[in-house]
Amino acid sequence: MNILRTITLAIPVIFTWLLMINCSKKNTPVVQETPNPTNRIEKLLQEMTLEEKIGQMTQYNGFWDATGPVPNGGDAKWKYDHLRSGKVGAVLNVSGVENVRKMQEVAVKESRLGIPLLFGLDVIHGHKTVSPIPLAESASWDLEAIKESARMAAIEASARGINWTFAPMVDISRDARWGRVMEGGGEDPYLGSQIGKARVQGFQGADLSAHNTIAATAKHLAGYGFSESGRDYNTVDVGTSTLYNVILPPFKACVDAGVSSVMNSFNTLNGIPATGNHFLQRDLLNGRWDFNGFVVSDWGSIKEMIDHGHAADLEDATIKAANAGSNMDMESYAYVNHLKKAVEEGKVKMEVIDDAVRRILNIKEQLGLFDDPYRYCDAAREKELPNHKDHHATALDIARKSIVLLKNNKNNLPLSTSQKSIAVIGPLASDKNSPLGSWRFGSDDNTAISVLEGLDAQNISYKYEKGAELVTAKTSFLEEVKVNETDKSGFDAAIKLAKESEVVIMVLGEHGFQSGEGRSRTKLDFPGVQQELLEAVHAVNPNIILVVMSGRPLVLTWAEENLPAIVQSWQLGTQSGHAITDVLMGNYNPSGKLPMTFPRSVGQIPIYYNALKTGRPGPIDLVFWSHYIDESNAPLYPFGYGLSYTNFKYSNLKTTHQAVDQANFVKVTVTLKNTGKRAGREVAQLYIRDLVASIARPVKELKGFQLVDLDANESKTIEFTLHKDDLSFYDNEGKLIFEPGKFEFFVGGDSNASLQESLVIE
Ligand code: BGC
Repeated sequence: MNILRTITLAIPVIFTWLLMINCSKKNTPVVQETPNPTNRIEKLLQEMTLEEKIGQMTQYNGFWDATGPVPNGGDAKWKYDHLRSGKVGAVLNVSGVENVRKMQEVAVKESRLGIPLLFGLDVIHGHKTVSPIPLAESASWDLEAIKESARMAAIEASARGINWTFAPMVDISRDARWGRVMEGGGEDPYLGSQIGKARVQGFQGADLSAHNTIAATAKHLAGYGFSESGRDYNTVDVGTSTLYNVILPPFKACVDAGVSSVMNSFNTLNGIPATGNHFLQRDLLNGRWDFNGFVVSDWGSIKEMIDHGHAADLEDATIKAANAGSNMDMESYAYVNHLKKAVEEGKVKMEVIDDAVRRILNIKEQLGLFDDPYRYCDAAREKELPNHKDHHATALDIARKSIVLLKNNKNNLPLSTSQKSIAVIGPLASDKNSPLGSWRFGSDDNTAISVLEGLDAQNISYKYEKGAELVTAKTSFLEEVKVNETDKSGFDAAIKLAKESEVVIMVLGEHGFQSGEGRSRTKLDFPGVQQELLEAVHAVNPNIILVVMSGRPLVLTWAEENLPAIVQSWQLGTQSGHAITDVLMGNYNPSGKLPMTFPRSVGQIPIYYNALKTGRPGPIDLVFWSHYIDESNAPLYPFGYGLSYTNFKYSNLKTTHQAVDQANFVKVTVTLKNTGKRAGREVAQLYIRDLVASIARPVKELKGFQLVDLDANESKTIEFTLHKDDLSFYDNEGKLIFEPGKFEFFVGGDSNASLQESLVIE
């Protein structure tokens, strides 16, 4: 009886499995069943015409100033007509309760079936209140604070009518030339996964239907962060092992955390555009990972399949994208114009359409939009929540935690309040815009607390000279940012001030829009004449505290060699100046750790800690080993690095293994002591190395970290627990495998951690 039952149960499973293999071979769509569609959705699906279904799969950019009269001409007119006839499922870049409500009213009251719209926006780091850029937040390694920051962003954005964000970006990147590193979690798949998950949880909260939670999007699937030579939108060429072990894990973590949508990417993967990539979207995401949400294309990425040379025309691109699992078209006008014909001609099956629509409607249902389409349109909340003073406290908290102290050799920091004369020099010290960074659509220009304002707020007396301008042109998200500043007329005044002062705080770096999308750079120095200014000031007063504001790792080699103190402040958002002052004055003891390796020179890029050993690791005295003849292999600052105003000592590392218990497979304990004179926080990091494997493993891999607060002289024993999966890796078919053998375990304050124990695990 039991055998019979097992066979009966197994038949459909085997059949589906065979079908999947067969279909993926032929590259025809495998449409997984969308789990638990509600009756309402099924009923709707039965009532919908093909045009209405395709409408749900279509997203338009903000097209009509809804607070004005209904448009009667041009681009907005036809989009408006589409809205009324149910040919639009989502819009982006429309915000504000009044705008959103008016547009939602057209969809709900004037279209035949009254299906509410999704309102999407790039809510990337805060909204009206701006948090540090994501790369900076990642430097906090503080998952609770990161989650809280995303929560705050969701509260503010949802109060302005938004119900869907295109975040988190979880693209791993090893290349600081790529401007979008500012948007992600850095170079490490483990840290990136934890951060991606925390941000999804923050945006989506415990209940997606609450009026203060929004649907999140893990983007960009996949490989976008590996654009060759750091040039945005460039070709991506990655090996299978890197794809499975480095690029994909953060996406998987977001899917496991229940992310509502996934955005595909502009690049190709093995020659197939991600947007038309059956393997990524259907086999992996919907299949192996059991993803319940929907896939949105990136902006115009369906159309770009033509430029990639993968589709002959928009009709061809439409067929390929839809079949490959791109459920919603953002701004290619592909589905709205070509999908109907493709279905009628049998080139896209009705089940592909139904699957996409079901997935999209499911998210609308989960957001509670069918019960109340105006759930996010409460004018009272809009008045109260964006820029709420409690949010400033949240933004300040994470801003302080994001700062990384890179150098403090002579303990020049923290500054003493009795300092006789402080000079502040540099264009970014008075800048209220750059600290807001890129991707901050909800915010108002010039609303960051500048460094000068931060010092003023704490009654620190100083004298200021700008010294130089950062950029000449007015810059915005949509303008090209070029630095052609050559004016040195401010140098003399800056040099004079430096000469007369005891200490100089120099605030240098990048303009807020010099990183972000389309902002790749070949040089990672200080743009314009800032380096010259720095050296000119240094010539008269070497006692310089350098504060670096940037959206990416810069090459700070000269500064490291010549200056006593360097603070990496990134772009810290609304509370920037307060956070920086707190660190400079010692009101906050810095605890940030780098989420990306800082190179010594651009020629070392891509540079990352979790590299393979190579066949010629060296160093040997001969020429023929893996090295440069003009530069060391070592980075300037390694991944995980960051100093504190106190010191920490690690000792007594112990490892134990329990073969029977997968969840507690290996336990690692270590004693951590604060050996300095003040309280501080250390991010204790655990790395492993799998010495011999069928597929070579990196020299180190982060597998755990803990934030440990210790008073002066206090010590604690900390324990890391590793699951068997943590010692496993993905083979080249994407299967997680464990191979017995010798493993090394390292614990320390950065990826150079040298305290080490090993275990042979059979
Ligand atoms: C970006 C996406 C973004 C979208 C909508 C694209 O250019 O690559 O990350 O979400 O625009 O603004």
